Amino acid sequence: MPPASPADRVLVALDVETLGAAERLLDRLAGTLTGCKIGSQLFTAAGPAAVEAARKRGFDVFLDLKYHDIPSTVAGAVREATRLGVAMLDVHASGGVAMMRAAAEAAARAAADFGVARPVCLGVTVLTSLDRTTLHREVGVPAAVEAHVLRLAERAQEAGLDGCVASPQEVRPLRLALGRAWVIVTPGIRPGGVERGAEPVRVPDRRSPPLPTDDQVRVATPRAALAAGADYLVVGRPITGAADPAAAAAAIVRDLGAP
Ligand code: C5P
Repeated sequence: MPPASPADRVLVALDVETLGAAERLLDRLAGTLTGCKIGSQLFTAAGPAAVEAARKRGFDVFLDLKYHDIPSTVAGAVREATRLGVAMLDVHASGGVAMMRAAAEAAARAAADFGVARPVCLGVTVLTSLDRTTLHREVGVPAAVEAHVLRLAERAQEAGLDGCVASPQEVRPLRLALGRAWVIVTPGIRPGGVERGAEPVRVPDRRSPPLPTDDQVRVATPRAALAAGADYLVVGRPITGAADPAAAAAAIVRDLGAP
C-alpha cells in the first residue's frame, strides 16, 4: 500500500555517531516526519536501542543493514530484525534468489512467531554512489546501470520480496516493469533549494546550478523522484546537515504535497 501522506513518504537517514545524537534529531523531527532509516553507522554504534528509541517516539523504522550473506545467515538476521519491530528492511539483491527467498520467508515466519507485523522486505539494486564506469571496471558488470537495476529487481520480485531500493533515475522503468504494488524506495535525493532548509525546496530547471550531491552520483530532487513513481524517499544529509533539520524536512514535505 502506498504511504498515506507526503510526510509518511520521507524517511530521514539517521547517519549519526551516537544514540544521543539520533534521539535529538528524532525529537526535532517528530511531528514533521513519521519514518526514519537506521543504517550501519548508527546500528553498529548503538544496536537495537536505536530502533527502540525511534519506535518509542512513534517513528516507523527502515532498518537499512543491506544484508548480503549466505541464505541461512541472512534468514537469521531478518528474523532478529523482525523481532525488533522494524517496518522495513533490506538485503542485497545481488546475493541471489535463494538468499532473497530465505529472507522473505524468515520475515513471514518471525512475524507470526513474535506476533508483530511482517516488515516490508526490499532488495538493494545498485548503490546510488555507483555509475556505469565503476559498475563495469570495479564490479565487473558490463550492463548499463538501468538494465542491471531492472534485472536485480525482477529477481527480487521472483524471490518474494516486496520492493527494492534504487536511485531516482531508475524509478520510472522499475514502476513500469514491476507494477503498482511494488514498493520503490529511493535515496540519492537532493533538494534544489538555494540553501538547504532555508527556503521552500525548488525543483531546478535548466538554468539552476547542479544539485549538491556529496558522494551520491545518481540523484534527483524530491519532487522529481515522486513524479517518477517512488513510494518512499530516503533523505539524509539534506536534513541532518541543515542548520534547522525540522525546517528542512518540512520544506521537502511541503514541496511534495504542493499541487
Ligand atoms: O545523506 P544521503 O541523503 O546521501 O543519505 C542516503 C542514505 O541512503 C544513506 O544512509 C545511504 O546509506 C542510503 N542508501 C544509498 N544508496 C542505496 C541504499 C541506501 O545511498 N542504494
